[in-house]
Order: sequence, then structure tokens, then C-alpha cells
Amino acid sequence: MSYHGVPKSNALYERALELIPGGTQLFSRRADRFIPGLSPMYVDHAEGVDVVDLDGNHYLDFGMGCGPVILGHCYPAVNEAVIAQARKGNCFTANDPLEVALAELLVELVPCAEMVRFFKTGGETNAAAIRIARGVTGRQVVAFCGYHGWHDWYLAANLADPNTLNSHLLPGLDTRGVPAALKGTAIPFEYNNLDSLRAVLEARRGEVACVIMEACRSKQPEPGFLEGVRDLAHDHGALLIFDEIVTGFRMALGGAQQYFGVEPDLATFAKALSNGYPLGAVCGRREVMSEAASMFISSTYFSDSIGLAAGLATVTELRDKPVLAHVWAMGQLLQEGLTSLAAQHGVAFHCEGYPPVMHLGFDEPDEQLRIVMTTVYLQELVKGGIMSLMGAYLSYSHQPEHIAAYLAAAERGLVAVREGLDRGDLADRVEAGLWGSHFRRLV
Ligand SMILES: Cc1ncc(COP(=O)(O)O)c(C=O)c1O
Repeated sequence: MSYHGVPKSNALYERALELIPGGTQLFSRRADRFIPGLSPMYVDHAEGVDVVDLDGNHYLDFGMGCGPVILGHCYPAVNEAVIAQARKGNCFTANDPLEVALAELLVELVPCAEMVRFFKTGGETNAAAIRIARGVTGRQVVAFCGYHGWHDWYLAANLADPNTLNSHLLPGLDTRGVPAALKGTAIPFEYNNLDSLRAVLEARRGEVACVIMEACRSKQPEPGFLEGVRDLAHDHGALLIFDEIVTGFRMALGGAQQYFGVEPDLATFAKALSNGYPLGAVCGRREVMSEAASMFISSTYFSDSIGLAAGLATVTELRDKPVLAHVWAMGQLLQEGLTSLAAQHGVAFHCEGYPPVMHLGFDEPDEQLRIVMTTVYLQELVKGGIMSLMGAYLSYSHQPEHIAAYLAAAERGLVAVREGLDRGDLADRVEAGLWGSHFRRLV
């Protein structure tokens, strides 16, 4: 069934904007991350990579829940474990043995993991890792690179200068509600720039509790960069935390730390850990993690049985099936296909990152023009039955025919952009709202 518009989705989103501040719970699910008016705002159900929206349109999913759904929607082994667990019960007064079983598995697979604590969301997991690092070192300052969630410790970076976070994945974040007393406690450094980290560590000598970063995102680490970060952190008495919320169980079974052969002191996981059911984990060296026993880090839902059952089933599947090889192969197919289509049609378009999760964009310095180009491109994806942000997460359920369908829609998008530029009618090709108002101000 071909795309036939999203009137029900649009009407519901209008109502949501009246009931829910900002309309959604996740920024990446806001209308301007897609094509307002054209893209579905609501999904009714999904299986594998097939998604059906509220209006009955079918799409192939290349967002996979913004990352977690690495095996595919309603993946049988995970759903069976979850349903079986629901029948056994969820959230007991005493503990569930599943938490020991999953901790055992993570210790077996993740190089730095000697002990594990469980959480629910990625941001919360990072906040706990920061608490542990501050508690262990008795220091307060965090040196960071990249995006690490919505918590006070991170947004504090924008207190000194409201533009600090603009080059760290999510631009335009306001600090309303973040205590001014946290000013100067979170300092950024630049990826692949050891001097920028050295400058932070020297300027705040003896104060830096930890360095937190993703080992990779859209760029590849230059030779020696990750080792240099580890050594600099340790030379200054700071702990190294790898945020593996996106890289975890995607770059390699043991995360980016295994892929690059650099072990952090602590690592945080969520997303692919449990195929879409809420679960996060802080893993780390015993010497560091054991100190968390005397820190107050506690919640009723950290060890709910459904999340643990999903995590155990997901990680077991990742270990026992050729999931990662498949995800990489599908990502390579997509990345190579997009790169060659962009060259063929003479469009400056990048497809950055490693194959399991890639970031797409037009290399156009004029922001307004870039927004229109992206809008025209994404319109063709939506109408061509592809659900996607300006990036792609690959899964075990993607097959070569799904990649071919994406590439066919992407080619129509790239051709529309090329023709629009050549004929000077690009803006006339905009059919609904514009993608990307978030570049101006998120909140
Ligand atoms: C690297 C990284 N860290 C942390 C987070 C926050 O995770 P969550 O949205 O589950 O709180 C994200 C979310 O995309 C992320 O990409």
C-alpha cells in the first residue's frame, strides 16, 4: 500500500502539543526532525523493519526506535522472553536472579566489565557513571566530548557559554532549571584533538573527576587518539568513561572499547542492550565499581524483571547469532550505495560514521539552503515508504531488498535536490513543513 498522507497523525500531534509540553518525550521524535505535516508522528505497530503508522501507511524503518532495536521490532526471542517474564511477574519485593545472570554475561563480553549496575535510560546511566567517578575521585569537574543525555551535570556545560554544546550533537540546548552553582563543572573538549583535552586537564588540574566520551560517532579516531585520551586522563588522576550507549553491542560484541582495543575505567550501555525495552548498565573495573556500594544510587525500577529479561535475551542473541556481521554488511551496502548515488548525481552529500549507525547530510554551508535540500530529500524518503531521520541504524532484520528500497527513494531525493538546484526551483519543491528548525533553538 503506497503512502497516502498522515491526517490522523497530524491531528493527534496537534492535540499532543496541547497536552504534552513540547509534544513528545524525546527530541528526536519531534516534528521538525522529520517533515512536519508529511511524516508520520505516530506509529501503530511494527514487526522486523516494517512499521505501520496511525494512518495505515507502511514504511521500512531505518531509525529502529532511534537506536535500540538492533534485532528488529517484535523480535521473537526477545518478545518470548518478555512475555514469559510478564507471566512470571515483574518487579518483585526481593531481587530477581536475572540481574546476576545478565551481570555475568556482560562481565564475560565487555572488556572493562568486572562489576555491573543496572539502570533504565541512557542519560540516567551516564549520570550514575558521573556520580560514581565523582564519588571515587572526590573531584567535581567533568571533561566531556559528545552528547550524553539531559541531566544537570551535562547541561551545566552551557551555563558559562550557551553555545558550548552546539558542536556536541544537539545544538541549542537551554539551561533553564539547571542550578547556576554547577557553572564550570562540565568542560568540553574536541574529538581527535588531544591538545584540547590537555588544556582542560591543565586548566583544572586536580579537579577533573573523569573524562567521558564516545569512542567514535560520526568521525573515526585518529591513530593514537583514544590511547592518548586514556593516558592523559590517568596522568591527571581522572577516570575514563566510554559512553557506549550507541556503540555498545554494535561496533563489536564488547563495544567500541573492544573494537579499538582501548579499555576505559567505566562504560555505559543502553539502547542495543535490550532491543527497545528500557535498560541501561554501568560496567567497570572492580576497584572503581565496588565503591558505588557506598553511594546512594537506588530506584524501584532499576531491576524490573521485564527489562532484565529483554536484556538477557537480546545479548544472548547478539552473542550466539551472526548479528553484528549482518548489521555491518547491511550498513556497508547502504553507505556505499548512498556515496555512489551522491557522486553519480553530483550532490555534495556525506554518509559519515561506521556502517552500523551512520549520519547523513548535505555539505552545504548556507544553513537555510541546507535545510531546504534536506527537506526535499526526506520528502522523497517518506513518500517512498522509508521511515528515517538524517541517519540510519541498521538491524539484524534489514535485508538487501530493504537497502535497495532505501536507495531507490534516496536516489529520487538526490535527483530532486540536483534538479531543484539546477533549475532554481528547489524551494518550490517543498511540499509541507521544513525539516530542521531545531538548528535555530531546541529549547
Ligand atoms: C551517546 C549517547 N549517550 C546518551 C544518550 C541518552 O540516552 P537516552 O536517550 O536513553 O537517555 C544518547 C541518546 O541518543 C546518546 O546517543
